[in-house]
Amino acid sequence: MPIFFEPQTKIFKLDTSSTSYVMQINKYGYLLHLYYGTLIEDIDLGYLSYTCPHASQLPRVEMESETNPFFSKDTHRMEYSTNGCGDFRGSALSILRSSGTSDTDIKYVSHKIYSGKPKIEGQPATYATENEATTLEILCKDNASGAEVTLFYTVFEICGAMTRHVIVKNTSKKPMDIQRVFSTCVDFHDASEMDFIHLYGNWGIERTFERAPLLHSTQSAESKRGCSSHAHNPFIALCSHDATETCGDTYGFNLVYTGNFYASAEMDSDGGARVLMGINPEGFMWHLEPNESFEAPEAVMVYSNEGLGGMSRIFHKLYRNNLCRGEWKNKRRPILINNWEATYFDFDEEKLYDIAKTASELGIEMLVMDDGWFGNRNSSKTALGDWFDNEEKLKGGLRKLVERVNALGLKFGIWFEPEMVSKDSELFRKHPEWALQTPNREMSISRHQYVLDMSRKDVRDYLFDCIKKVMDSANIAYIKWDFNRSLTEVGSALLETNRQQEVFHRYVLGLYELLERILTAYPHLLLEGCASGGGRFDPAWLYYSPQFWTSDDTDAIERLDIQYGTSMCYPTSSVGSHVSAIPNHQMKRNSPLQTRGHVAMAGTFGYELDLTKLTDEEKEIVKTQCDDYRKYYNVINYGELYRLISPWSNRRRCAWMYVSEDKSEALVTYVIIRCGVYERYYLRLAGLDPNKRYLNEQTGQVLTGKAWMNAGICLHERLQDHTSRIFHLVAVE
Ligand code: GLA
Repeated sequence: MPIFFEPQTKIFKLDTSSTSYVMQINKYGYLLHLYYGTLIEDIDLGYLSYTCPHASQLPRVEMESETNPFFSKDTHRMEYSTNGCGDFRGSALSILRSSGTSDTDIKYVSHKIYSGKPKIEGQPATYATENEATTLEILCKDNASGAEVTLFYTVFEICGAMTRHVIVKNTSKKPMDIQRVFSTCVDFHDASEMDFIHLYGNWGIERTFERAPLLHSTQSAESKRGCSSHAHNPFIALCSHDATETCGDTYGFNLVYTGNFYASAEMDSDGGARVLMGINPEGFMWHLEPNESFEAPEAVMVYSNEGLGGMSRIFHKLYRNNLCRGEWKNKRRPILINNWEATYFDFDEEKLYDIAKTASELGIEMLVMDDGWFGNRNSSKTALGDWFDNEEKLKGGLRKLVERVNALGLKFGIWFEPEMVSKDSELFRKHPEWALQTPNREMSISRHQYVLDMSRKDVRDYLFDCIKKVMDSANIAYIKWDFNRSLTEVGSALLETNRQQEVFHRYVLGLYELLERILTAYPHLLLEGCASGGGRFDPAWLYYSPQFWTSDDTDAIERLDIQYGTSMCYPTSSVGSHVSAIPNHQMKRNSPLQTRGHVAMAGTFGYELDLTKLTDEEKEIVKTQCDDYRKYYNVINYGELYRLISPWSNRRRCAWMYVSEDKSEALVTYVIIRCGVYERYYLRLAGLDPNKRYLNEQTGQVLTGKAWMNAGICLHERLQDHTSRIFHLVAVE
């Protein structure tokens, strides 16, 4: 078993093939955190329990003596911190009991260890067979309030990741309210030499990588928008100052949740740090009647001593194998053409057919009809909620168009924005009460639309029926599920007053339920998530849709930054990435079609332009790109990613590569951002087998992996700004 308990010292040790995580129950019944890092054999790590010698003013459990050094929750490394009983750092748990007080204090009661991993009811989470993972459940109790708190830890032995989540149960005879319940809490003994990494952004610049020294304060990332958001991703990492792509301690944390989240790292005066991650306590309170329980979402934790690259590869493997599900998990996804940037709202079935026809000649495999096909939808101002054919555009109806497109040999995909309702729509006129709203307050409007109350079953039933009607009316292979505004005035007409603070979370649970229902009814459906671009790109979505539209910014050079940040924890197989027209619609930049193709190939590949307007020469390039993508599909989507040059490092060039798991093949991409006068460069590769010999198919050169990784590929060619090269390496002999 990779999880051990040593009864004498009361130490738990949780191992993967590369990491150890250690904690101990102290003599008062509190769980103390001892260690998280590189795999170590020793279990006797009790000496790491910390006593601060100069803290007479600190609250303690009992008076100390020579033989009884004091224990203070404020200076010890606590396993799961609680509110108001002497730990003054951020608390993971706070329960408001019927007395009106919110002091919370949990102690160990019992534990069990077993193979496999339990499900989280109604929520997305990683999954595992009995052989892949082992779970530890620790039951704790707050005797004063009667809250039972179960801490779950699962180790994925081979892959090296860990997951955590928490269940709180009210075992008292009176109601209680959970004010906060984080999914993970990790105390570091010494973080004084560490950096804080997060992915911030906005529309068009999602998941921008930022790294700065951890300070004696709290650095955080959060969302209060009802979705995980463009502004911050539910991912943070701590790494040593000297950590690079290839070496150094790196700890990554990612929340499997698509709603309001909070993640922070707080460094205290003696250099220790606490990481917290979970549902954002702001706008959250959960009411528990006696015997009711609440299950917090899952947090994923990854440690690697192989730097940021090592951390990312563990996340990628876990998400590809143990989070994405269903038919499309390991099946090649179709190369698609989406009509959004080709036509926006201005299309009819003939225009779409023409695009599809050209697509079929070029080797593209699916047409996706974007926004504007339904109700009276000719701009973003109307008709969300009216999910029936816009007959002016689709003369002859959806079914006829799909049949014609299928006859060309293409699959058909369609756009929905189910969670929204336009102010000007039949649905809103009929059911204004279905939109989120609060008493006596005007509803904020955004993109001319309101948000439906997904906590309501009648709303979800309506949406399921609408989607079902469309799905049953034609041969639809794919849905792009969009979400184009944040939640405001968050209240539900159906919930009692003491449950209104639950609406944000109930919304998310309702969304999960609808997604699950649709996927159960249509198991062959390929879902792609989208939220004004990548405003909801998070692990929760990857449980339902194996790919997510990464950003509305389709400019190849901007995408270098966006895809670099995204790759910190999300696998290439999830990164929706398309070739678009020039001048680029967001940046007005002109970059070569070849570069646009190479950058889009670092993801689930497709096109987003009017193919009928391409020249013959451009069409030939598109054909080759589609063939190349099919040829390199496996190494790109199932291989391991090595980031070679960060787009941030010198703003001149960017490079990355994929290596197949058996190291028999690699694909290297190199992009010049801004050419220098002296373009003399040797690109040193990574991840190859040093002893294998590899043929570089583009240059004909054969060298050992050791040479490619230490001497590198010669790049003396003077390339123009925004040009790119790819190199395919195959093991020979
Ligand atoms: C969002 C999406 C786009 C497109 C439009 C349609 O902005 O990110 O890709 O689907 O909506 O309105």
